[in-house]
Amino acid sequence: MRMRFLAPVVLCAVVLASCGGGSNESKTEKKEETVSETPVDNSMVTPGAAEAAASKGAALIEQKDCKTCHKVDAKLVGPGYKEVAQKYEATEANIETLAGKVISGGSGNWGEVAMTPHPDVSKDDAKEMVKYILSLK
Ligand code: HEC
Repeated sequence: MRMRFLAPVVLCAVVLASCGGGSNESKTEKKEETVSETPVDNSMVTPGAAEAAASKGAALIEQKDCKTCHKVDAKLVGPGYKEVAQKYEATEANIETLAGKVISGGSGNWGEVAMTPHPDVSKDDAKEMVKYILSLK
């Protein structure tokens, strides 16, 4: 127990020590980049609210295992996202139904293969993912 507790502490100390010298320079560089990018980001947020929402879904999909079975424009194990977008209108009801299927799994709409359930995905997150998918027409 004691060793287990100590190991990360020692590791952290080593990492911190080894980064200490060189990283100051790169930190300053990064700061400059962020500052120069900020105005660009701001100008995109207000007019592109829908796009921002879509990219949130894209980011969520990126974090999950979706891409092992889905690609944007081709069938893999499951249908391509563009096919899904063509099949369903982006209505609130469809988003709700499809989000439910992402969470509890689904089968019989595209073939014999079933989609695995994703009980760890919240309803809100699933809706963001579906919104992104249905935006890919
Ligand atoms: C194990 C493979 C697999 C994984 C992982 C997977 N899917 Fe699927 N997905 C499928 C299959 C197969 C279908 C077709 C199911 C059917 O015929 O009803 C499908 C269907 C869908 C559909 C359409 C459902 C319908 O009723 O038309 C959506 C939307 C979808 N997946 C989103 C996702 C998202 C988002 C994720 C990640 C959280 C994900 N999938 C992960 C295999 C997978």
